[in-house]
Amino acid sequence: PLTGKRVLINAGPTREQIDPVRFISNYSTGKMGIALADAASDYGAEVVLVLGPVERHPEDPSVKVINVVSAGEMASECISAFPGCDIAILSAAVADFMPAEQYDRKLKRQGEGMILKLKPTDDIAASLGRIRTGSQLLVGFALETHDEILHASAKLKSKNLDLIVMNSLRDEGAGFGHDTNRITLIDRNNIIDKFELKSKEEAARDILDKIVALLNAEKDETK
Ligand code: CTP
Repeated sequence: PLTGKRVLINAGPTREQIDPVRFISNYSTGKMGIALADAASDYGAEVVLVLGPVERHPEDPSVKVINVVSAGEMASECISAFPGCDIAILSAAVADFMPAEQYDRKLKRQGEGMILKLKPTDDIAASLGRIRTGSQLLVGFALETHDEILHASAKLKSKNLDLIVMNSLRDEGAGFGHDTNRITLIDRNNIIDKFELKSKEEAARDILDKIVALLNAEKDETK
């Protein structure tokens, strides 16, 4: 169903360096995004995966992997690959903040403690939402702990997405580190599809099937 389409996917965490031996990051393992890359390739797409620092990698050797470390590197790789792509799926757990200052020498332990000043990173999804064309399909993720649908719908609109994949940390077996996920899809027309707890591979196919349905709906609208 995705033959002839180019798909950009980002996945995994990012690391924001404090000094040569320390960084800020999160618990993302990249499993969901890697499952999406393998499934999209299986659906016939040409896939570029911009991947943060994780242990695993896609099984399908035809997926082109671009390894990155920081949010800044992930943003520039995604922004340069995006114009040639038909679909972008932004599953990465991009760090929201980075140290305001990076130290090139190891910080020494001294005094009572320290205050680390942080500054926001670029929002990759929002940046792609600003440069997208009408024929490109943009899909984001939302990890929520409360008022899930409300927050995910707000992200869909503010980042100019077509579809958002919502995970709730209140659901057992969903989110970081699990082999399973329980997703809710919210599309640009506010149609909401809730799925049962499934393997991340099956959840990836549910997401891609929805993307294929949105592409087909666009084709019908332009007829
Ligand atoms: N995202 C991004 N760049 C960032 C932060 C988030 O591209 N610097 C993307 C994620 O990849 C995801 C979507 O934005 O597709 C939502 O991410 P999420 O962490 O749920 O939300 P935030 O926008 O970071 O908002 P908050 O942390 O306040 O919930």
